Amino acid sequence: MKKPLQINPKQAAGEKAAQLVKNNMVVGLGTGSTTAYAIKELGKRVASGLKIQGVPTSYQSAFLAAENGIPITTLDEHPVLDIAIDGADQIANFIAIKGGGAAHTREKIVAQSAKKFVVVADESKVVEVLNHPVPLEVIPFARKLVVKQVAKLGGKAVVRMGVNKDGPVISDNGNFIMDADFGEIDDPESLDKALSQCTGIVEHGIFTKVDVVYIGKKDGSVEILKA
Ligand code: A5P
Repeated sequence: MKKPLQINPKQAAGEKAAQLVKNNMVVGLGTGSTTAYAIKELGKRVASGLKIQGVPTSYQSAFLAAENGIPITTLDEHPVLDIAIDGADQIANFIAIKGGGAAHTREKIVAQSAKKFVVVADESKVVEVLNHPVPLEVIPFARKLVVKQVAKLGGKAVVRMGVNKDGPVISDNGNFIMDADFGEIDDPESLDKALSQCTGIVEHGIFTKVDVVYIGKKDGSVEILKA
């Protein structure tokens, strides 16, 4: 008997979102497994003649862009990007939690530099109320102070530990990553502002300005939501 065709929802979302990119665009290249499909698809389109430049959000996306023949540029040369495509750990009502791959600081800088910020995700990431721990990029010297400030906001922050690396995860910017559990986040916009005011947090993983969401489904279809 023939096996039914396996469709990867992340791949469906990533590849479809890559079609938003047009000739001569400067594109923010997100980090993670879903965006990787978008980057690979863009690489194929570049090989067929599409002219774009990419601004990577991490070493991962920079390596992937290079492997797939996408010319790299910087925010110094292109402070305004046409579009940025990136994944999410969780998303509700056009607010995303990001940073599962420790890249959310550069991801937020790139997202906010883009005219259009597109999130690509499989359907398991879409929820009614956010409850994923919020990744924080933290200056190592401020670790204990951050734990205290997060506790005052009703959360519990722990340092993320490495896998295949002893000790803490170190971000591409040389800082610690902490994960702050707040349980259900009823008011993510207020939490965004409160975390932005904490001393020692370089950036947190709540993204409040998502323009478009591409949701990959198990049947291979992609639902597109616009804010
Ligand atoms: C990177 O730090 C993250 O923000 C990722 O974009 C997010 O974790 C989504 O990753 P996946 O696409 O691998 O699920």
